Amino acid sequence: MRRTKSPDLNGRIALITGGARGLGAACAWAICEAGGKAMIVDLLTDRGEATAEELRAAGHDAHFTPLDVRDEAGWAAAVAATVDRFGRIDILVNNAGIATAATIEDLTLADFQAILDINLLGAFRGMQAVIPVMKAGGGGAIVNIASNSTQRVSAITTSYAATKAAVANMTKSAAIHLAQTGTGIRVNSVHPGPHATEMLLGSDAKADLPQVQALRDAIPMGRMGNAEEVGAIVAFLASDAASYVTGAELFVDGGLTPH
Ligand SMILES: NC(=O)c1ccc[n+]([C@@H]2O[C@H](COP(=O)([O-])OP(=O)(O)OC[C@H]3O[C@@H](n4cnc5c(N)ncnc54)[C@H](O)[C@@H]3O)[C@@H](O)[C@H]2O)c1
Repeated sequence: MRRTKSPDLNGRIALITGGARGLGAACAWAICEAGGKAMIVDLLTDRGEATAEELRAAGHDAHFTPLDVRDEAGWAAAVAATVDRFGRIDILVNNAGIATAATIEDLTLADFQAILDINLLGAFRGMQAVIPVMKAGGGGAIVNIASNSTQRVSAITTSYAATKAAVANMTKSAAIHLAQTGTGIRVNSVHPGPHATEMLLGSDAKADLPQVQALRDAIPMGRMGNAEEVGAIVAFLASDAASYVTGAELFVDGGLTPH
């Protein structure tokens, strides 16, 4: 019997959007701890530099370059900076995202377009910018961070859930195309449930609010996720342990979605 492959990213180069903090920073840590090297990109320059510095202090090879995922020319520069530093790109994590809470009656067209431009078109621009580099390198793995809101919505997830459902389906189309054309590039989406990041809580002060407690109570495992638990799944999907996995949706939500 063949041995089960364990996640190993030794020497793999990853570009992680929104990697300055939260789930993106956890992805950078998980990838580096599996032996990979990370280029963190984000709007938040000081925070991104600090995260890269913490990774280096722990002995990892991690760097930061500023990027607004809405900026197509910026994408070309970030990809060039990554290739200049590391020589290749094996892993792309499209994690940068924002959340807008509004009902179908309250949501403005401008707010809808703004979230689409980051959550959906940011990932689109990222894939288009990185795929040629991955093809030249003989393959790669793309992980798009969606959300469990692709399955579980509320009255105020009008725009957010729509962008994440679109990310999931864009992921599948890309996965099929890149498999059928023999590129060696796999594309999957990860669907976190509630995680206690600054996106969800804003600050720790909100962690005890009744609505946050109610959200926690709805989760079969009785707790929100830790960012590291998303990072571990991203590292797995990026690794050869997931060599036959493409076009998949992986939920990381303590059982919330099937509940
Ligand atoms: N926290 C959760 O409960 C949860 C649940 C499901 C999905 N998600 C998704 O996970 C991803 C990360 O979320 P998080 O909770 O870590 O949020 P966060 O707000 O802590 O981090 C998001 C990061 O993305 C960056 N970013 C935002 N817009 C950007 C842009 N235009 N260009 C570059 N960077 C940009 C931010 O500066 C920030 O560093 C998002 O896509 C989010 O939708 C989060």
